[in-house]
Amino acid sequence: MLRILVIHGPNLNLLGLREPEIYGATTLAEIDDLLAERAKELGVEIETVQSNHEGVILDRIASAVGRFDGIVINPAAWTHTSVALRDAIKGSGLPAVEVHLSNIHAREPFRQQSLVAPVCIGQVSGFGPESYLLGLEGLCRYLSRGDRSSPGAPAGQEVES
Ligand code: DQA
Repeated sequence: MLRILVIHGPNLNLLGLREPEIYGATTLAEIDDLLAERAKELGVEIETVQSNHEGVILDRIASAVGRFDGIVINPAAWTHTSVALRDAIKGSGLPAVEVHLSNIHAREPFRQQSLVAPVCIGQVSGFGPESYLLGLEGLCRYLSRGDRSSPGAPAGQEVES
């Protein structure tokens, strides 16, 4: 059975209260419930973690090697700032999907750049909590394909690592 680590970055523990006009009313616990439900439907195992401390997440990524098959991550503000997070994802060698509740490309200029996206197999941004579910589904499809080709690439084209 595939094992997926789902990572929620800083301030996502405040979902439901935090800027609901941007991030909606759904709490993190509700998102985790939706993820657990979809994981069951997909027949995969997931573990979820949220932290406001970057080092905690870097350690979780390092210790995921050999224990998980892939990562779904909402890096939140670290998306736009963290070379360390980018290096951890790339260094783990695990396929990762970056997700965002809001459409970061339609927001302030500083949010439109992701340092993490280039080391991920893909990004889902702007669908609210559904972004996580689409990200999980995309990652599972990618992992289930023997050839590990990029979901967006023409058949036979490998993802650059
Ligand atoms: C976010 C977008 C980030 O720019 C922001 O810092 C967040 C949440 C999103 O899910 O839309 O904390 O990652």
